[in-house]
Amino acid sequence: MQAATLPQFGDATAFQITEIPMPKPAAGQLLVRVKAAGLNPVDYKTRSGKGQASLFTLPAILGWDIAGQIVDAGQGAHKFKPGDRIFGMSNFPNPANAYAQFAVVQEQEFTLVPDNITDEVAGATPLAALTAWEALFDHAQLRAKQRILIHAATGGVGHIAVQLARNAGAVVIGTASAKNHPYLQELGASQCIDYREQRFESEILEPVDVVLDGMGGETTLRSLDVIKPGGVLVSLPSMYKDDPAIVGKAREKGIRVIWMSVRPAGDRMEQIASLMEAGKLKIKVDASFPLREVSKAHQLVEGHHVQGKVVLIP
Ligand SMILES: NC(=O)c1ccc[n+]([C@@H]2O[C@H](COP(=O)([O-])OP(=O)(O)OC[C@H]3O[C@@H](n4cnc5c(N)ncnc54)[C@H](OP(=O)(O)O)[C@@H]3O)[C@@H](O)[C@H]2O)c1
Repeated sequence: MQAATLPQFGDATAFQITEIPMPKPAAGQLLVRVKAAGLNPVDYKTRSGKGQASLFTLPAILGWDIAGQIVDAGQGAHKFKPGDRIFGMSNFPNPANAYAQFAVVQEQEFTLVPDNITDEVAGATPLAALTAWEALFDHAQLRAKQRILIHAATGGVGHIAVQLARNAGAVVIGTASAKNHPYLQELGASQCIDYREQRFESEILEPVDVVLDGMGGETTLRSLDVIKPGGVLVSLPSMYKDDPAIVGKAREKGIRVIWMSVRPAGDRMEQIASLMEAGKLKIKVDASFPLREVSKAHQLVEGHHVQGKVVLIP
């Protein structure tokens, strides 16, 4: 089978398309034909030797988001049958080898793709949707009528978080560049802030209960100025974890800051699939690329202006 392999960590051109042996499913695992593999910022961070790179050996195969069709099952994997379409975030943060024509996955991390959802959309969903869900409901415990500020609100995690928060009855304020504001309103934001032109912490924003921060650093520090005492900020980029300036300012203001790391969860995927099937959660695919164009796909995500998600079609 073909795979996009990384002989060395490096820039987006470091990939090679190679022929490698088909993997075999062990107990509790499924062999899937990968129909779509979603990209996330952690993919390019890992490719460059940061992110989860310390968990990989070279040559490495990247990718954690998989939508695929079951070809074979290991011992004890009975939940699905051959031919079923399934999707999930595989084995994160350990290697999952998604950028390939076939992959083995843990049965309990996957769920069925609804009939009205394409493989491309399903492959784009898992990591970003699990992150948004975990951030809003497990960590921030977002409730109806609370006000939430979501940064990078039209990106991979953001466009899902806006919809989930809105479905929960929260009032959503999002940051994005002006060209994305019509889309952000469509997703359910009540207020859109153009981060290029406006300082969100100035008088344009009433205090909020929760911030979902996909930016980090200076954006996190400024966000602490708009959160009510007793409020919570959930931060996604791990490179700022436990930053003393952020921790100190949050303590002074009585705000809880949580740096989260998303975990695979098949039961959560089932809830996400139900929302997608009912049309209550729409995943946007900005662009998809064949496996041989993996470098282009990485360059696009690394540019940090994707609307929704980017996927590979092996
Ligand atoms: N800890 C975890 O478990 C976890 C899980 C998932 C993601 N993450 C991290 O969270 C971050 C976001 O991930 P993602 O997948 O949502 O990223 P993404 O899809 O690459 O984000 C792209 C979006 O960022 C927006 N953007 C760029 N600069 C901005 C700024 N200064 N202010 C506000 N928005 C800005 C862009 O909007 P415009 O095009 O309008 O500029 C674009 O829509 C990444 O660092 C990722 O690694 C962490």
